[in-house]
Amino acid sequence: MKPMKPMCACTVLLALLVAAPAGAQQPQKIIFDTDFAYPPQDDAMTLFFALNCPELQIMGITTVAGNKSLNVAVADSLKVLEVTGRTEIPVFRGAASPLMHQGTEWDTKRHGGWYANEPAPAPPGGFAKKKVESLSAVDFIVNTVMQNPGQVTILAIGPLTNIAMAMRMEPGFAAKVKQLVIMGGAIASLPDGGGNHTPNAEFNFYVDPEAAQIVLRSGIPIVLSPLNISRKARFSKEWYDKIVAVDTPATRLIKERMGPGFEKSPERVGLMYDQIAAATLIDPTLMKTVELYVDVDINHAANYGVSVGAPQPWPGGEGARKMMVQTDLDWDRFIRLYVERVTRSSPSAPKR
Ligand code: RIB
Ligand code: CA
Repeated sequence: MKPMKPMCACTVLLALLVAAPAGAQQPQKIIFDTDFAYPPQDDAMTLFFALNCPELQIMGITTVAGNKSLNVAVADSLKVLEVTGRTEIPVFRGAASPLMHQGTEWDTKRHGGWYANEPAPAPPGGFAKKKVESLSAVDFIVNTVMQNPGQVTILAIGPLTNIAMAMRMEPGFAAKVKQLVIMGGAIASLPDGGGNHTPNAEFNFYVDPEAAQIVLRSGIPIVLSPLNISRKARFSKEWYDKIVAVDTPATRLIKERMGPGFEKSPERVGLMYDQIAAATLIDPTLMKTVELYVDVDINHAANYGVSVGAPQPWPGGEGARKMMVQTDLDWDRFIRLYVERVTRSSPSAPKR
């Protein structure tokens, strides 16, 4: 047998590169900032996805009042982590109410529990044994970003109160955030741009308009996922059936919580707001984006909490900053990615 020729250095390098599995890249460090509530709430459905993405390192879950009270966001996120066996991920208490916005009687008749710091009812199966961290969410966000400059992405899928408070607390904070991916707003000048809470305001921005304005004007690189794109993502029984056909702790929870609703009304659909923002971190080619100047109205009048976007600044919109705004979705590829990740077995808890 002929002796093998020694490989030159460049051949070795090429072989190493080709052999390196895609997953060998360092995972993206993310903070999961959320107005969490138990499934079928979209924040929980987003966490199921993110937990099974090896591309992401969830450094912590920071909670905020929004869909429900802060107490519910804390209790429910602790419980979901316990049920899915991911108790290594720390949960932090954030803002219990918006910076300025006072809830009115009108708000109490609409969606959300942000205006009332109500205690949490026990999640199904009882409160988690896992405890919330003693450090506040805002301290955690500031510390994590300052200790990892330019490396941390914040996935912000609730009102932006915690992020605005982090900016106020540490003036150097904004410059050190890698990127913000925000579910919020609705761009009325683009198709499908009406509001879902007031005629033109989207819920997360409406709950804390002042925080939304502070964050959008921060200069942090932002990808904005507004209602314009959420309206392309309609979760139906077809996809629910594919998820619950696989048995994992997460899919069992989805079945328990969504099964009765789909049995009663098989034609129902739910918009996948926050899931799109999370999928952006895994495959941004799923979304069409345009670069727009966007600002948020904080005048206490008919357009409180409305986001306005345009390709150029406009009179009165001088504070608007440029950001990437998602407008359209490759639904087929997105939903396949979503179902594939949610039905994966959760990776064993990484060492911290
Ligand atoms: O408007 C939709 C957004 O409001 C989603 O993030 C939903 O979870 C609520 O927070
Ligand atoms: Ca949310």
